[in-house]
This record gives sequence, structure tokens and C-alpha cells, in this order.
Amino acid sequence: MDLFKKLLNDEGPLGQYSFLDKDVNYYFFPKLEGEIQARMKFKGKEVLTWSLNNYLGLANHPEIRKADTEAAKEWGLGYPMGARMMTGNSDHHDQFEQELADFAGKEAGMLLNYGYQGVMSVIDALVDRKDVIVYDAECHACIIDALRMHLGKRYVFPHNDVEGCEKQLQRAAKLADKQGGGVLVITEGVFGMSGNTGKLDEIAALKSKHEFRFLVDDAHGFGTMGDTGAGTGEYFGVQKEIDIYFSTFAKSMASIGAFIAGDKNVIDHLRYKVRSQIFAKSLPMPLVIGGLKRLEMLRTMPELREKLWAIVNAIQDGFKGRGFNIGTTNSPVTPVVLHGDVIEACNMVIDLRENYHIFCSMIIYPVIPKGMVILRIIPTAMHSPEDVEQTLNAFDAIKSKLDEGVYKEAGVEGAFLAKS
Ligand SMILES: Cc1ncc(COP(=O)(O)O)c(C=O)c1O
Repeated sequence: MDLFKKLLNDEGPLGQYSFLDKDVNYYFFPKLEGEIQARMKFKGKEVLTWSLNNYLGLANHPEIRKADTEAAKEWGLGYPMGARMMTGNSDHHDQFEQELADFAGKEAGMLLNYGYQGVMSVIDALVDRKDVIVYDAECHACIIDALRMHLGKRYVFPHNDVEGCEKQLQRAAKLADKQGGGVLVITEGVFGMSGNTGKLDEIAALKSKHEFRFLVDDAHGFGTMGDTGAGTGEYFGVQKEIDIYFSTFAKSMASIGAFIAGDKNVIDHLRYKVRSQIFAKSLPMPLVIGGLKRLEMLRTMPELREKLWAIVNAIQDGFKGRGFNIGTTNSPVTPVVLHGDVIEACNMVIDLRENYHIFCSMIIYPVIPKGMVILRIIPTAMHSPEDVEQTLNAFDAIKSKLDEGVYKEAGVEGAFLAKS
């Protein structure tokens, strides 16, 4: 059989919704245009944007733009050429990872080119076939892909179920002992869909009873959680118990790249073992110098985090006060949980964008159960109380229409949707 024919026959989990992209780039690969700020343009019209992980508003901050531009002017995107281990190193790279480690309360840090490949490769470097991984069922795709590469056993526990985690730890420890391996527990600081924090304190407490190492993906927690913004480990007071702390630069840091931090001997060992770094060109200078500037601002401007949390509290309290279900989030990620089919979800999003000028992401089956719709709101320091009010009023209006069944047919003004 022709490989491509076979490939194209399999629509994949989202293929069933290909009819949605009749108006290309409406649902999939939408193009937000203009400066990165609360109000941007979508298909020529201004929209209030709630779908960027630019938590602290750094993406378009004038000081950041200046640092990025000057670094690009001075260094270009080429330098340093080669993988870090060979010819791709610089004092700036060393400085950046040490500053990240200091901020995360760890001895040493290591830069990664991307979060996704980076964390996959770090997990791959940490374990071999004798080792056992125990992980939360709702971990991000990059962790799931790391598990796919793992040649040894892995045991999943239901999301945030610490008892389940302990049960799996007992099984894992038995097997690891028999095989002469160790145990790695993986969870997230903040889960990006639900906004729940991982139960880092309770999992860390299991260390008194079981032997394991603890890796936390804190993509959404770094910069947003904890007194100084050092992340969810700081928020729970268990940063020390996290053996490998990971975060991407793609969210609060509004850039590209990622890092891990931990004990110096382990990080130094990993420098020679993380394949996505050994066999790939290192981060270009503007990303490193721009990253240093972002970290400095994240550390020294608590007002950005305060502003973020003022917006988070206003919108989350507002949703709750108006009777919306936002699940059990205790982070900035704000999922508004509604019930409806795919057509209703799409019409609601069209109405929100076209008539209320609000842009947020829609999450539907198979990412979540059938019949459930999540409109995910990501508050940032760029938003204002007026933005919050406008959004809450718009959500009140669309929720009433949803309850009245208005979205059941493709009858909303501006709607183009009707499953053919
Ligand atoms: C929890 C989590 N881990 C890892 C990543 C991947 O990071 P990156 O975008 O740097 O590849 C993401 C998404 O950005 C994420 O949400």
C-alpha cells in the first residue's frame, strides 16, 4: 500500500473536524495580527485576546524588545555555531543557566533548545530499561512522548491522585529493586488544561516512605507561582524536594527554549547525555541575551506578577460569582467548562469572536469527554479590569444563548458553520 495513501486515510483525532476549517485559519492555525497585547486583530477585526501564555506581558515589553533587537544586531542568529558541547558555547550561555539555577534554588542549570524535545531527552537520559517511571495521567504530550521512548516499565496514576501515586510507587519500587534500577516520579507544577496545580507537596512527602527521584514540568508555574515567581515548588515550599526542575521559556518568559535545574553532579552528568542538546545546535545569542533580560525582569519586577494575579482573581471570582464552572483551578489558567456538542461549541466561538470581539481557545472532544466544551482563558498582566468586565458580560450572554439552544443550529449571525 502506498504510505501516503494510508496516511491520508487515517484522519487522526482532529481529522473528524476538518469541515471546521472551511474558512481557513478560523479554528485551526488562526492568525492573530498586530503587536502582542490584550487587543489584537483577527481576520481584520479587533479582538480581546485571552489565548496567549504571555503571563507577565513580557513578549512585547519595550525593554525586552530593545534587548532582543540589540542582541540580534550585535550577534545575529548564527553565533555560536555548533552544539554546545563542541563549538556552540559562550559565557552568556553559562551565565544564563547559572542565573536560572540560582533563581530556581538549585545548584546548577542546563539550557535546552526547546521544552518539548528538551524534556523528552532529559527523561531519556535519566533512565534506562531497569528503571521505572511513575507519572500523572494528565501529563503533557512531551512527557508522554518521553514515556514512549522509555524501554523500561512505566506506571500511570490517575490525575492528582496521591494514593494512586503511592500504590504505583510501591509496584515500581518492587520491580526496580528486582532489576537493579531506580524510580522516577513525574508530574507538572500547573496542568495547562485544568489549571490545577500538581500535588507537589503530597508527592514530595512520599519521599519519607519510598525511594524515588522527582521531576516536575513547571511550564505554566515558572514566573507565575510562588512568592518570588520561582514556580510551583516555591508555592508549595517543596522546591528542595524536586530533583529535576524543568520549565520552558515559551510562557512567562515569552521566548523559545527551556531549562532544567538540579544538583550540580547530576546536571553535569546530563550535559554529556541529553541527546537533543549534544546532537543539535545550541540556542542562538539573541535568545540567550534576551532570556537573561527576561529573567532579570521576572525577578526584579514583582509588580508584573501582582498585576497578573489581580486580573486572575478578578476574572476567576467574576466567573464563579456569575455561576460559571471553572473547575478547580488554583493557577492563572482559567477553564470555563460548558456543555454542548461540537456545532454549539463552534457557534459559540464564532459569536464570541464576531459579535463580542473576544478571542479564546476552544477545547473539545477528543481532548475532553464528548458533550463537554472548555473555553480556556489565559489572563495576563497586559489585561485590564475593563477587559475582564467585557469578557464576563460576553460570557453571560453566550451562556444564556447556549442554555436557550440558540447555538444548536448554524443560525448565529456571521456563522458559516453547518456540517455538510
Ligand atoms: C507543560 C508543558 N511542558 C512542555 C511544553 C513544551 O515547551 P516548548 O514550547 O518550549 O517546546 C509545554 C508547551 O509549551 C507545556 O505546556
